[in-house]
Amino acid sequence: MGKEVVLTGITTTGTPHLGNYVGAIRPAIAASAVANVESFFFLADYHALVKSRDPDRVAQSTLEIAASWLACGLDPETVYFYRQSDVPEIAELTWILTTMTAKGLMNRAHAYKAAVQDNEATGKKDPDAGITMGLFCYPILMAADILMFGAHKVPVGRDQKQHVEMARDIAGRFNHHYGELFVLPDAVIDDSTAVLKGLDGRKMSKSYDNIIPLFAPEKRLRKLIMRIKTNSLEPGEPKDPDTCTLFGIYRAFASAQETEAMDQRYREGIGWGEMKNLLFDYLNEHLAGYRDEYQKLLAAPDHVEAVLQVGAERARSISRPFMARVRHAIGIRRLG
Ligand code: TRP
Repeated sequence: MGKEVVLTGITTTGTPHLGNYVGAIRPAIAASAVANVESFFFLADYHALVKSRDPDRVAQSTLEIAASWLACGLDPETVYFYRQSDVPEIAELTWILTTMTAKGLMNRAHAYKAAVQDNEATGKKDPDAGITMGLFCYPILMAADILMFGAHKVPVGRDQKQHVEMARDIAGRFNHHYGELFVLPDAVIDDSTAVLKGLDGRKMSKSYDNIIPLFAPEKRLRKLIMRIKTNSLEPGEPKDPDTCTLFGIYRAFASAQETEAMDQRYREGIGWGEMKNLLFDYLNEHLAGYRDEYQKLLAAPDHVEAVLQVGAERARSISRPFMARVRHAIGIRRLG
C-alpha cells in the first residue's frame, strides 16, 4: 500500500504562540516522524492576503512561521515544507476547481455567512459590503492545496472542518465529470490535544489579543506570565487546577508525574505568585534551546529562503506532472 498523505497549511498572518505550538506544531511534527506517512506542511501566504493587506506583516510572518517550525524540529528532508505561492500549479488548479464549484456551496461557507451576518447586524445596506471574492472563494484555494497532493488526512482546527468537506465535495464533482483524478480528503480534528487559555482566561487566540508568543524573549515571557489572570484565593487556600490557566499551560509541557505533583500542590494551596514563578522557570527552560535556534534562523533569512526553495522544488516535482494530467483530463491539450 502507498503511504498515507497528511497535509496542512498555516496562514501567514501572525506570530506563533504557545497555543499554536501545543495544538498544532508539536503534534504535527510528531506525526510526521511516523513511518508510512508522507507529510506536507506549507505556508499559506495566498490565504494570508484574504486576512491581511499589510505586506510587511505577511512577509515577516512567513519568516517567523517558517523559522518556528524549523526551530521546533521539523525536518525539511523527511517532509514537504514549502510556501504556497512558490507552487504556481496551486493557483492554476484553483481556477479549474472554481469552474467546478457551485456558487451555492460557497454561499454556505461559515466565514462568508458570518461576514454577511455582521453586515446585516450593523445595518449595512449591502449584505456583501466589504466582502472580497478572496474571502468568498477562500475554500476553493484551500481545496486546490489539498487536492494537488492527494491528501488523505487534513489535520485542522474545528473552524476549518467545513472547508475540508467542501474540498471533498468539489473533488467528487470533478471526478464524476472528468474521471477519478482526485483523492477524497478527510478532516482530522484531534480533541485530545490541549487547548491553552490565554492571559485573560479565554482560549489563547490572536483575535482575543491574549497570546503568549512561543518565542517571546525571556524578560517578556516572564512579564506575560505574571499578567495571566488568576482568582483572589490566598496562598494556603486549596485551588482548582482544572480550571486554572497556569496549570493548563504547565500540564501541556510537563510529564505526567510532574503534573500529578503540581496537582497536589494546588490542593495544598500553592500561592499564585509562586506558581507563576514556577511556570516561568519551567517554560523558559523547556523553550530556551528552541528559542536560540529560532533567533539564529530569524537572523539568517537567506538560509530559511533556501530551505523553502528546496521544498518548493520537491513539491513541484509532484504538482507539475499532476497538473499535466488535470489539464489533459479537462481538454486543455496540445494540438496535433
Ligand atoms: N485555512 C487554514 C487556516 O486558516 C489554513 C490552510 C490553508 C489550510 N490551506 C490549507 C489548512 C489546506 C489545511 C489544508 O487555518
